[in-house]
Amino acid sequence: MCGIFGYVGPRTDGATIVLAGLKQLEYRGYDSWGVAVASPDKIVVKKKTGKIGEANVKDMPHSSFAFGHTRWATHGGVSEVNAHPHLDCTGTIAIIHNGILENYEVLKQKLLTKNHRFVSQTDTEVAVHLIEEYAKRMLFSKAVQQAFNDMEGLNAFIAMNRNNNQFVAVRSGSPLVVGFGNGENFLASDAAALLPYTRQVHFLEDDEMALVSAAGVMMFNARTGVRIKPQKQTLTWSVAEVEKGSYPFFMLKEIHEQPGVMADIAADNAEHAVKLAGIIRQSHGAYMVGCGTAAYACLAGSYLFSKIARRHVNWAIGSEFGYQLDFLTDKSLILALSQSGETMDLLDSVRKSKEKKAKIAALVNVLGSSLWRIADYTLVIGAGPEKGVASTKAFIGKLAHLTLLAYALDGRIREGQKVVTMAVKSAKTVLGEPTVSHIQKLAKKIKKARHVYVIGRGLSYPAALEIALKIKEISYIHAEGLAAGELKHGPLALVEKGTPCIALLPDDETYGANLAGAMEMKARGGYIIGISHKPHEVFDYYVPIADAREATIIPMVIAGQLLAYYLTIARGFDPDKPRNLAKSVTVK
Ligand code: M6R
Repeated sequence: MCGIFGYVGPRTDGATIVLAGLKQLEYRGYDSWGVAVASPDKIVVKKKTGKIGEANVKDMPHSSFAFGHTRWATHGGVSEVNAHPHLDCTGTIAIIHNGILENYEVLKQKLLTKNHRFVSQTDTEVAVHLIEEYAKRMLFSKAVQQAFNDMEGLNAFIAMNRNNNQFVAVRSGSPLVVGFGNGENFLASDAAALLPYTRQVHFLEDDEMALVSAAGVMMFNARTGVRIKPQKQTLTWSVAEVEKGSYPFFMLKEIHEQPGVMADIAADNAEHAVKLAGIIRQSHGAYMVGCGTAAYACLAGSYLFSKIARRHVNWAIGSEFGYQLDFLTDKSLILALSQSGETMDLLDSVRKSKEKKAKIAALVNVLGSSLWRIADYTLVIGAGPEKGVASTKAFIGKLAHLTLLAYALDGRIREGQKVVTMAVKSAKTVLGEPTVSHIQKLAKKIKKARHVYVIGRGLSYPAALEIALKIKEISYIHAEGLAAGELKHGPLALVEKGTPCIALLPDDETYGANLAGAMEMKARGGYIIGISHKPHEVFDYYVPIADAREATIIPMVIAGQLLAYYLTIARGFDPDKPRNLAKSVTVK
């Protein structure tokens, strides 16, 4: 959840480089930020709470050795003093940290008896004093290694030592990437932030430790001390992909990129889909797992596999799967879905599944991410960098892949490509000016609603859940996605005069029963918004969607994403950075 960026090299504007890197990581979510630079006599730190957008570091000294952090509070409230970097008692060692130091209280008590002075309420500050303590009697890198081995929990951190212009970075759990430049080197929590400087990177594995200076990078196993050779990879994303361009927000840019993402998936992934379908066929029990939006993609996948390939592929929420996997064997297959590949709840279940010897296939957007590395088979979503906290193009990418996969399972991959291409065409119409303005008008009409209900059946049920999630996550209107059949088992009691009720009505076997749900809500005074291939008299507002067979939920969800986006704008909020949320949920 926290953002980390470090620079060491010949440039003297280290603080500015670090601040620019942190701004690239803003989308991960944060409540405060800080930058530290090494000056000849001390480490100078600047910390602030709130947004980094307008911040500058012009008041900081020139330095070619600097790092910084955007914090999403866990231990200790949101304040300047709790923001990172944290300093040791001498002011020559600084640390930035992502994760939770679980045994910090025990360690702190020991350090207090040795007269260490603490100024914050964070677990992170304990780590810097622990390093200071060890560094009194050993090399700095050894001191960091020793401290890391004393720590419990999942922790990635970088320690800066002013005396030798060398970072020591180490990880367990949270992501860290080393970027290799020419006579300069970088560290970041997200490879996309390195793109302006280098494409050559090494993703740190758990327990790997990197000693990073301008002269080079040395790597070790932090548990054993054994030297490791960096595995350099080349990033393929472009700088333009991580910029907003002419769009006011990343979310809107990412929504509009979706037809292109799907077209690429349809064109380039037939072979991969056929291969993964073969792996699914060979398994005895396949299970899709994901969190949040990715979980809804899993649910949609279970309908697609059933409908298209007559195959039962189960699904589960990442944070729950760990409690129900006792039945896994070495023949089981886990299909783990994730944009970031760093979601802790998902990684935890995947690791538990691996302990049961199940095979792991990952459908993941970030190359080199933790999930990508622990999987036995990988399929890259190919949505490009997604920076809006609300997941849009990664979700649509997952649906496009799952559609292809279901068709591949049934031996009809060309048909699958055709269906995804139909979704591309339909999505382009939704994103055309007439429909966008129509949805904008709807957003203005319902922006004061306290509750919104979204109903669907069959494939449009996961679409209803996803649209409701988008609305609540960024516009802060309470929204619930429902299986239309469940309405009269309880939720109908909540529908009052004027309550906006969105009914998803694709041209499939669910149409009639779903329409009955819309009518039930209308009879209780609901304001019915029909998203469908044809208008109906029960609709108070109609959003047209061209049919794309099983992939019709794709343009439907895109209409829902646009509604969520424009509701957020109409209510005066920032769709890219919803309150209380982070892009990548790397803690449990
Ligand atoms: O990176 P992941 O796909 O694993 O993320 C999973 C969820 O945290 C994510 O989809 C979340 O629900 C989004 N904010 C929803 O828009």
